[in-house]
Amino acid sequence: MTDTNEHVARMAKLFDALSATYDDVGVDFFGPIADGLLAAMPPVVGESWLDIGCGRGAVLLPAAEGVGPTGLATGIDISPAMVDLAGIGAQARGLTNVHASVGDAGSPEIEGSFDTVSSCLVLFFLTDPVAALESWLPLLRPDGRLGVTTFGPIDERWKHLDEVFVPFLPPAMRDARTSGGPFTSDEGMEGLVSKAGYSDVRTVTGEVAVRFADAEQWHSFTWSTGQRQMWLSIPEDQRADVRAEAERRLASYADADGSVTFSQGVRHTLATRPA
Ligand SMILES: C[S@@+](CC[C@H](N)C(=O)[O-])C[C@H]1O[C@@H](n2cnc3c(N)ncnc32)[C@H](O)[C@@H]1O
Repeated sequence: MTDTNEHVARMAKLFDALSATYDDVGVDFFGPIADGLLAAMPPVVGESWLDIGCGRGAVLLPAAEGVGPTGLATGIDISPAMVDLAGIGAQARGLTNVHASVGDAGSPEIEGSFDTVSSCLVLFFLTDPVAALESWLPLLRPDGRLGVTTFGPIDERWKHLDEVFVPFLPPAMRDARTSGGPFTSDEGMEGLVSKAGYSDVRTVTGEVAVRFADAEQWHSFTWSTGQRQMWLSIPEDQRADVRAEAERRLASYADADGSVTFSQGVRHTLATRPA
């Protein structure tokens, strides 16, 4: 197995394991971020939309609603459990124009010519983001739209909280919210997308207020997202100490009701396939 295949298999295992609680612990995070992307790149009635790394459908399902019954929303994700949950979510919303299946964002084996391709909070998990973006280009029709969402500036208080994990992390571990290089700036992200062959590359930024009602909810949230891999990097017998230190830091930022609200910057990089 190559390093890339091993990495992709690890991602599938991680997201399978957290899928049951992903975006389901009462914290508004993935929904508002997806809404920002959809506002920056509104679905058009009748179009065909591809969402890469669709997860439980934060973008895919509202996109399906937006394109309507004459359109089609296709999602791929490396995690079979996420794909199943996206299907269940589509059914629950009464959507019949959603097709979700297992697929690798790094080399999607998918047929079709899509009007729009989206990928929300996925690119930084891939070993070669430019190669992935290049592989998405032929899936778009000429003049078709691309929208890729990554994280913007992080709240310094939240960063201080998450620093409890740092001593335990393997050097190569990607932290989705703080990963460096091109992911730290609008220009960096625009550079990746331009290098992959897209035109009209531009950025729309946003900010989401993320409220944790209490320390317990923060803890559940961290296990329900990519941060789960950070907990797993900590030897089991040390996790209680790390949690206690995290909760001490969290308490120092609490409002009078005990809740804590952090801000999360968001970056939507938009582009088109050259005609
Ligand atoms: C943070 S979640 C985002 C999910 C969804 N887009 C959302 O906004 O809620 C990242 C998703 O990327 C998927 N993923 C990670 N690596 C992938 C790969 N190589 N190919 C396809 N999906 C991948 C994970 O399984 C997970 O569902």
